[in-house]
Amino acid sequence: MNLKPFLTAAALAALAVSPVFALTEQEINANVAALISKMTLEEKVGQLNQLSGLGYSPEMVNAIKAGNVGSILNETDPAIVNKLQREAIENSRLGIPLIIARDVIHGYKTIFPIPLGQAASWSEEIVEEGARIAAEEASSVGIRWTFSPMVDIARDPRWGRMAEGFGEDPVLTTRLGMAMTRGYQGDDLSKPNTMAACAKHFAGYGASESGKDYNTTWIPEVQLRDVYLPPFEAQAKGGAATFMCSFNDICGVPSSGNKHLLTDILRDEWGWDGLMVSDWGSIQQMIPHGYSADLRQAAEQAANAGVDVDMEGYAYIGYLKDLVEKGEVSTEQLDNLVANVLRLKYRLGLFENPYIDESKINFYAPSSLAAAQKAVEQSTVLLKNDGILPIKKGVKKIAVIGPMADAQHDQAGTWVFDLEKEHCVTPLTSLREKYGKKNVTYVPGVKFSRDLSHDGFDEAVKAAKDADIVLFFAGEEAVLSGEAHCRTDLTLPGAQKELMAALAETGTPIVMVVQAGRPLVMNDEVAKAAAVVYCFHGGTMTGPGLTALLAGDANFSGKLPVSFPKASAQVPLYYAHKNTGRPAEGMTLINDIPLEAGQTSTGCTSFYLDCGDGPAFPFGYGLSYNNYSYSDPKLSSATLTPGETITVTCDVTNNGSREGREVVQLYVRDHVGSLIRPVKELKDFASVTLAPGETKTVSFEINPEMLSFYNAQLQKVTEPGEFSVWVAPNSESGSPASFSYSDK
Ligand code: GLC
Repeated sequence: MNLKPFLTAAALAALAVSPVFALTEQEINANVAALISKMTLEEKVGQLNQLSGLGYSPEMVNAIKAGNVGSILNETDPAIVNKLQREAIENSRLGIPLIIARDVIHGYKTIFPIPLGQAASWSEEIVEEGARIAAEEASSVGIRWTFSPMVDIARDPRWGRMAEGFGEDPVLTTRLGMAMTRGYQGDDLSKPNTMAACAKHFAGYGASESGKDYNTTWIPEVQLRDVYLPPFEAQAKGGAATFMCSFNDICGVPSSGNKHLLTDILRDEWGWDGLMVSDWGSIQQMIPHGYSADLRQAAEQAANAGVDVDMEGYAYIGYLKDLVEKGEVSTEQLDNLVANVLRLKYRLGLFENPYIDESKINFYAPSSLAAAQKAVEQSTVLLKNDGILPIKKGVKKIAVIGPMADAQHDQAGTWVFDLEKEHCVTPLTSLREKYGKKNVTYVPGVKFSRDLSHDGFDEAVKAAKDADIVLFFAGEEAVLSGEAHCRTDLTLPGAQKELMAALAETGTPIVMVVQAGRPLVMNDEVAKAAAVVYCFHGGTMTGPGLTALLAGDANFSGKLPVSFPKASAQVPLYYAHKNTGRPAEGMTLINDIPLEAGQTSTGCTSFYLDCGDGPAFPFGYGLSYNNYSYSDPKLSSATLTPGETITVTCDVTNNGSREGREVVQLYVRDHVGSLIRPVKELKDFASVTLAPGETKTVSFEINPEMLSFYNAQLQKVTEPGEFSVWVAPNSESGSPASFSYSDK
């Protein structure tokens, strides 16, 4: 029911943005059913077909007029978007609007830190604000569906796509993933300045074997449900409008054909009624997977598993009509798939409001750039500081060296299809503005991160010798992380390690600033540096954000969302690991082993002879210009019973001389379980801002549900027993308190 004709101009003006008409779910479902009843089989199949942007080409226009395409990805010209939409509305038989989709992963034009960087902020506000700005910019050109947030848990930094997610932990990923979805979808998805979110890649993609992209995964369902599914369950129950199934197989079944995953769990168990899109060609890829003999079988398997839309696979448009006519896919199932597509179009308000106002396009608003800088400041992690930072007033000569000091393209990171690099402000530009060009000498040393040449070393070393301080901007070019960009050697690429060693020889103190899409192995470089700052590809405002931190105009508060390995071969590595029957202790390392040492002399426990055990820097770790102290946690009770909660309090004190934000983390250990439990798990976190000398009491609530896990019978249970609880600055600190849970 279109209410527009009945609303007065005043009522229309009262609507926050251009007039929209949020239909009730009941009205939407009635409209969907009525529309489906009018559709031909061909038109139904057409709604399930998603094509990549072909511009306003005859091929695309003819497909639209014939009702053979329901959504388009990668069309970003607003004039073309309106023209294509007009073809659908005015020149197809039923006038069903198109949805325009795009990978807007960490900003559209104003680029924010990569999601792994945003995760280092541990701030739902930062993440939501960035997504809201992305939605404002992208929707202004007609993009109403983004293929984000990626909420894949990743514990192997060889995998290039770790860059696109929120790290290794289900609680952190759940909370920040939902913040991103809220930012995209706003409070009313039918408003034209919103985008449908897309929780991806469902599921288990981050467990790709050997950290090699698209590789097989072997995830027992108890682990799938404990580790990989929680962020998706939150998305499904929290209102994510769409999901994307993943390329990988789980235990031999590709997600694109996995009915247990896509229907039994997602729809029947979690009650989700959104739109499931395949990944690019992932239905067709069930052929090379060896799960489908041909494209017709792939179409049948995907349709019956519950994939609504075929992204660039040409499986549905090629075979679904025949499959339905032959009864291999029921009309009821086909109508379910079509209903999920049409429901999204109604939810987005596209039937009432299909066109965009091309005069309202606005990128790089000052407020957006300020938000992007704040995101850099809060997502950058201080890993080491011997006191050299913040840069002292007496420092006059700064040598800026390294391949990432002035890399407008590479500082944006992966998945920035719409980047305009000329808008990226580099660290060099900002430092020169801050300290004066004559006080900042710039010598790259190597031309780009993979550059193996030493030709630039001499000039760099000379600059270092002449300086009071070296700022060494190291890291990875954007292309070294992201999809299909996996690495087995996690050290600094190219000749950067040798360059750092040469710079260290000069004796000038070095601040190493790393921009990368993953944790890197940097043991020697960290040892040689006076300070180490880690910025996971910060986006447009990397320069101003880093300069504010280095100069002390802003304070560090970022904390690691992933564990940093000591060796490339140490991965997968994560803090919530199992204890094993012989946890690492009494380690004799490789260079300490006497000649002809006895077989059992090095200690028979779980560690590596050449790197011991544990991370170089732990999950949750990050320093500040302040020093914070934590009291031991206090519990409101030493016992927990069903229906009760325990309040955990901790006094956090800022012993520093400047205001700061501290991310306080709550970890719990279940000491004995019917299935072994991790040595600790993050259960909650909160940011607290403290003035110099200020103490605040931080409190958390623990309830039995938070302690639950899936047992061998796939029941979600909380078992009686002893628990430890930490309130700490990271996953390796703090003194535990104890409580017991009794289910009586
Ligand atoms: C890619 C990615 C997916 C992306 C899609 C559309 O292959 O796996 O994350 O959203 O294709 O670009």
